[in-house]
Amino acid sequence: MVTATERARAASAPVACPPMREITEGQYRAFLKTHKHVQIENVQVELRGHTQVKSYEPPNDYRPELSTAWSFPERGDWATHRGNYRGNWSPYIPRNLILQYTQEGDWVLDQMCGSGTTLVECRLLNRNGIGVDINPDAVMVTRDRLNFGLESLHHKKAEPEVRTCVGDARNLNEIPDGFVDLIAFHPPYAGIIGYSNDKVAGDISSLRRLNDFLGEMGKVAQEARRVLKPGKYCAMLIGDTRKHTHYIPIAFPTMQRFLEAGFILKEDIIKQQHKTKTTRERWHGRHKNFYLIAHEHLFVFRKPAEGEKVTKFKHSSKWW
Ligand SMILES: C[S@@+](CC[C@H](N)C(=O)[O-])C[C@H]1O[C@@H](n2cnc3c(N)ncnc32)[C@H](O)[C@@H]1O
Repeated sequence: MVTATERARAASAPVACPPMREITEGQYRAFLKTHKHVQIENVQVELRGHTQVKSYEPPNDYRPELSTAWSFPERGDWATHRGNYRGNWSPYIPRNLILQYTQEGDWVLDQMCGSGTTLVECRLLNRNGIGVDINPDAVMVTRDRLNFGLESLHHKKAEPEVRTCVGDARNLNEIPDGFVDLIAFHPPYAGIIGYSNDKVAGDISSLRRLNDFLGEMGKVAQEARRVLKPGKYCAMLIGDTRKHTHYIPIAFPTMQRFLEAGFILKEDIIKQQHKTKTTRERWHGRHKNFYLIAHEHLFVFRKPAEGEKVTKFKHSSKWW
């Protein structure tokens, strides 16, 4: 009998990252015939099949963000967006990033795509998208969220191309160097929330030790830099934790791995967290001598342009 500790060790052991494997529309449809849901860690996520979308956009009062403090009390439920995939990000986040950093027809990558929030926004905003996740069941959720008609949305323009793959963010072998116009992704916060019960080899959420996590995020950063076009942006949402009542920064050392990989820091956006279910359940009504963590960091990095002199950015680059 394999123990939970042995499983975690096996899942987090250094592995040769497997090559990307595309999941096509046909494969998703075949899967749908025999599966009504998938299990992500201990949560069942329903597969709904084709969805008739009521609204393709956020409510009318939506305005793109202008400052470095973002807050979305309503997470957003237009198109097929739903909050029932563990820790999925609000669609307002990729929407803002896509509008700020890309044009129609550009290629956007989410190399830890989970339930496909970024890719749904790509389709709605007429950008091409690539979604990769280490967990094949997550990729099926992504395809399911993409299963809606665009009808008149893009006024008879060709539909954007959206590709989904099972793969490892540390080895995006099917993506050529300098291909992508924007990376928008949201990694696990070390081992705080698991995504596969340690059953999927290469799942970074199985890494319990912070240093192991940071080492692997360094590889994610290198690969992100490789596939991004020079001069373009890579955005990563990441949060922190607390142990023995003291604060443990995960975001800042992860940011440093991206600077080490040669990125320049463009933005540090503070995103307020709402409805933090686990934290509230754990601490509700208890005496505490610390504040509940209610923010995350959305770092936006820039890959230097070809031949760009970066010395003037030395305080926004690796500084040690
Ligand atoms: C926070 S979730 C992403 C949620 C996503 N932004 C959404 O809105 O649904 C992190 C994802 O990273 C995936 N993951 C973990 N290790 C990975 C790896 N090595 N390569 C690619 N994906 C990985 C997990 O399976 C999980 O789906």
